[in-house]
Amino acid sequence: MLTFRSISALTKYLDKFSDSEAKIGFVPTMGSLHEGHISLVDKSIRKSTITVVSIFLNPTQFNDFKDLKEYPVDHNADFRTLKVYDDQLILFTPEIKEIYGNNVKTKKFSFSGLDKYMEGSSRGNHFNGVITVVERLFEIVKPDYAFFGEKDFQQLRIIELFVKDRSLSIKIIRCKTKRSCDGLALSSRNKKLNNSSKKIASNLYKALRFARDNFNSLEISEIISNIEKKFQKISGISLEYFLIADESKLHPTNRKSKGIKYRAFIAAKINNIRLIDNINLN
Ligand code: PAF
Repeated sequence: MLTFRSISALTKYLDKFSDSEAKIGFVPTMGSLHEGHISLVDKSIRKSTITVVSIFLNPTQFNDFKDLKEYPVDHNADFRTLKVYDDQLILFTPEIKEIYGNNVKTKKFSFSGLDKYMEGSSRGNHFNGVITVVERLFEIVKPDYAFFGEKDFQQLRIIELFVKDRSLSIKIIRCKTKRSCDGLALSSRNKKLNNSSKKIASNLYKALRFARDNFNSLEISEIISNIEKKFQKISGISLEYFLIADESKLHPTNRKSKGIKYRAFIAAKINNIRLIDNINLN
């Protein structure tokens, strides 16, 4: 597996593919890889001529310095995980300076309201930080396809909007959330949970399943109040939000309209570890 730390070496190598029919697939990550990431890599390998995986812990998308410091990092394990792909993929692991130069600055973007609720309102400036680095990585890798997980559905929608607004010729490929057998969505942050916390964390998926199973028979307000009440009774978990929003604009709603696709979104903290998840409802 070829590994590049510098932009110039990576772009020089990728230039080989620019004139041909070759398709570049791109899987941007922040490392601490799990089965969810692997499913994106597998999908990219199936669809593309060459796959680039980046591992870059992007400082500008963390609104809380403590959260950044505590983010799980295990470069050796990540390297071992990807090594099995051998020459099917290229690993890009830049330093902060390589991406941002001497000025680690978050750019400002307009997301047409997609960032108004959920992670956008809970984590100030988070999506500006995400798109600052995604824009930079797209400029460097120039992918034909870029693969993102539905677990971060709001991020996925914002990236789709960004690509559309800029008329970039990159196809964003949505990838299904990978879950452990009790439903817990795979996330790098799960590495911070012990077994009993993981058990408590499975309540996020239970709440989403309740919403999906009852979406046709209950009012949205009934679903929400039911879940809020359930969470008040579970110890060791603090619900930050549970809401239902349309998939396209991501505006929370209490009313169902015909022909609109809805999703339930949840964020909760267990032992100070913040987890998010979502599910499609119809
Ligand atoms: O989803 C992530 O891991 C990150 O937000 C991303 C897209 C790699 C940008 O840093």
